[in-house]
Amino acid sequence: MIDIHNHILYGTDDGAADLQEAVEMAQIACREGITAIVATPHFRIDRHNDSPETLRTRLEEIRQAVKKLGIPLTLYLGHELYYGDGAEEALEEHRVCTMHGSAFILVEFSPDEEYTYIRNAVDHLMGLGYLPIIAHAERYRCMVNNPGYLWELRNMGSKIQINAASVISGPFRRFTRRLLDEELVDYLATDAHGSRERKPEMKRCRAYLYRKYRRPYVDAILVKNAGHIVKDKSL
Ligand SMILES: [Fe+2]
Repeated sequence: MIDIHNHILYGTDDGAADLQEAVEMAQIACREGITAIVATPHFRIDRHNDSPETLRTRLEEIRQAVKKLGIPLTLYLGHELYYGDGAEEALEEHRVCTMHGSAFILVEFSPDEEYTYIRNAVDHLMGLGYLPIIAHAERYRCMVNNPGYLWELRNMGSKIQINAASVISGPFRRFTRRLLDEELVDYLATDAHGSRERKPEMKRCRAYLYRKYRRPYVDAILVKNAGHIVKDKSL
């Protein structure tokens, strides 16, 4: 499986605290059947953000440590862009990392954001040639009970990511499962933040999905669709 939303890149956001925790997260991911991770640290225009060079150096440290321990895990770099004023400029100035240099960009909004704002953001990003992926789409209040909105965003060309943990438990479970029922989901990811809490777990969710849904659909949201991201060269 390929995990396209993960805060394994240590020391830059509320994800892994240090190299050791990042390595522990890699170990857990490997046990869970994850073979590749796109590291997506938070990028917020109103906060300090480490430069892409710093992030690349740190990711390389994790790569070396993981390799030394014989953990078969590929690591790519991306960002989770919190959308707001200045987001497009930051992208155009290459301060934000798209998913492994592809046209895909993982975008999050405030959970209380209005739908028209989200739709306009998708429109702007697509106008600049980016392919937005809506991070943890199950969490936005304006979408809950309105999957029609997510259909509209998807018809515009954006992609939909949901968190594995939301499928299993928590307040968003019902809506998350509805999105799966409607085959509205493009990617299932962990959005892992650590090795003790919010861990990179997929196994339980994977078993549930294969029990409940069509095999080709589950293959697509766990592996195939993410494979297209890391191979994309359209930007
Ligand atoms: Fe995240």
